[in-house]
Amino acid sequence: MQLDKLRVAITGGFGSLGKTTVQAALDAGARVAAIGRGDPPTEGMLRATCIGGVDLADAQQAKKALAAAAEALGGLDALVNIAGTFRYETLAGGSLDTWDLLYRINLRTAVAASQAALEHLPAGGRIINIGAASALKGGAGVGAYTASKSGVMRFTEALAEELKDRDITVNALLPSILDTPPNRADMPNADFTQWVKPQQLADVIVFLLSKHSSAITGALIPVMGRV
Ligand SMILES: NC(=O)c1ccc[n+]([C@@H]2O[C@H](COP(=O)([O-])OP(=O)(O)OC[C@H]3O[C@@H](n4cnc5c(N)ncnc54)[C@H](OP(=O)(O)O)[C@@H]3O)[C@@H](O)[C@H]2O)c1
Repeated sequence: MQLDKLRVAITGGFGSLGKTTVQAALDAGARVAAIGRGDPPTEGMLRATCIGGVDLADAQQAKKALAAAAEALGGLDALVNIAGTFRYETLAGGSLDTWDLLYRINLRTAVAASQAALEHLPAGGRIINIGAASALKGGAGVGAYTASKSGVMRFTEALAEELKDRDITVNALLPSILDTPPNRADMPNADFTQWVKPQQLADVIVFLLSKHSSAITGALIPVMGRV
């Protein structure tokens, strides 16, 4: 799959899935700007432009970061919204702050980054969001998480409709469990072979970035591994 100098901004680009996606896009020939809240990793991002210290839930910071990405890449063809987080918390004994936090980190970051990217994206542009397969149905302890990721899914559909006339596609991937070091540490007795490898999800992201996906928009695509 060739991305042929496609200019791609990737949020959450310093995290587990983000780093793998940055590398996969670079390997496919894209030019990449990785945007993150913390400091960029010291290794492995050498061919990407790294823009750190950005709180993407803040509209002004998102606007500045996407403008910096577009300037560094000479324009912007695609945005991949990977920034996100997870909390397990039951309502009894839980805090409303957790609902605000997950809304802010999982949904507001994607909305603010997308709004900022729209100033730059041309016809044929791409926006790819990361939802969650677990948000297809609520479960004990994941109310705030699934509500925020459900928001990502409805946002994806709404923006896809809004942007049909501009020929910009908007899709979301719904992973089950990613095979990341934090997940292995949290669930040491699980069968890791059933999980989705970040590289497998990055491969799907590269497909959605490519010209081969031009007929797909408004799709919510489960990427479940064998879970
Ligand atoms: N891991 C899974 O099993 C799983 C399953 C389903 C869906 N997902 C989704 O997949 C995505 C990637 O997951 P992951 O495991 O790679 O997570 P991760 O390693 O924690 O990476 C997420 C990245 O997002 C960044 N971020 C958080 N808030 C931000 C903000 N306000 N502004 C800018 N950047 C921000 C984080 O930066 P800081 O570290 O500096 O905060 C981090 O680098 C997330 O959207 C997650 O919800 C993951």
